[in-house]
Amino acid sequence: MAETFARYDTRGYRTVDVAEGYAAWAPFYDATMDDRLDLPLLSSLSSMDWSAKAAAVDLGCGTGRVGAWLKARSVACVDGVDSSPAMLERASAKGIYRNVVCADVIATGLAAGGYGLAISSFVVCHVSDLAGFYAEAARLIRSSGRIVLVDYHPFMLLKGVPTHFNGPTGEPIAIANVIHLLSDHVEAGRRAGLSLLELRERLVDAEWVRQNPRMASHAGQPISFAMVWARE
Ligand SMILES: C[S@@+](CC[C@H](N)C(=O)[O-])C[C@H]1O[C@@H](n2cnc3c(N)ncnc32)[C@H](O)[C@@H]1O
Repeated sequence: MAETFARYDTRGYRTVDVAEGYAAWAPFYDATMDDRLDLPLLSSLSSMDWSAKAAAVDLGCGTGRVGAWLKARSVACVDGVDSSPAMLERASAKGIYRNVVCADVIATGLAAGGYGLAISSFVVCHVSDLAGFYAEAARLIRSSGRIVLVDYHPFMLLKGVPTHFNGPTGEPIAIANVIHLLSDHVEAGRRAGLSLLELRERLVDAEWVRQNPRMASHAGQPISFAMVWARE
């Protein structure tokens, strides 16, 4: 599909590109990104033995939220890749990553086969070239490696809710999204020589709404998903 979000937009927020958006969001990203979107999904993956992964690459690592989660699960060393210098600066400051690389996730420049795990959370909803993403992730892992991809659920994008944050004045600002259906992921992964081991979807549940009543309009609906891939 790789459809741009604009035709589904129900919010009408001012929309900026990835570079401008994450440069602006970086100073308060950690305080506003909701861990409920991805960390429970990561914890639920039954096909993953995190501590068995000696080296991981975090594609679109941002400020290092997922890198910190991996380190807490005893992944020995993690490299981070992101195209936003402002996000990477914060990741570096945390001292989590062995190396941080400012690059596009579809062309990282990292050595082939260097990792037991390639992970990416809430990035691919900004990446047009889904095939390029899977090809690069598959290139980076060794033959026994895994790819864990978590992303914003296409249902939310089709419902018209973009990736967004509130700027310093309170103005909601959207960051340009691309819509990939789950079937697009399956197709792109298979073309990259990968097998899908696990797929989980996260719904907005009653507890989440209790903790954050603004989520009530999404109650019972899918907001994120996680996939685990292996090389064939
Ligand atoms: C929502 S943040 C997620 C950051 C981190 N993975 C997390 O879960 O907190 C999306 C990140 O993806 C990065 N990004 C988006 N498109 C990218 C691309 N094509 N190449 C590299 N990084 C990209 C952005 O700069 C941003 O840091």
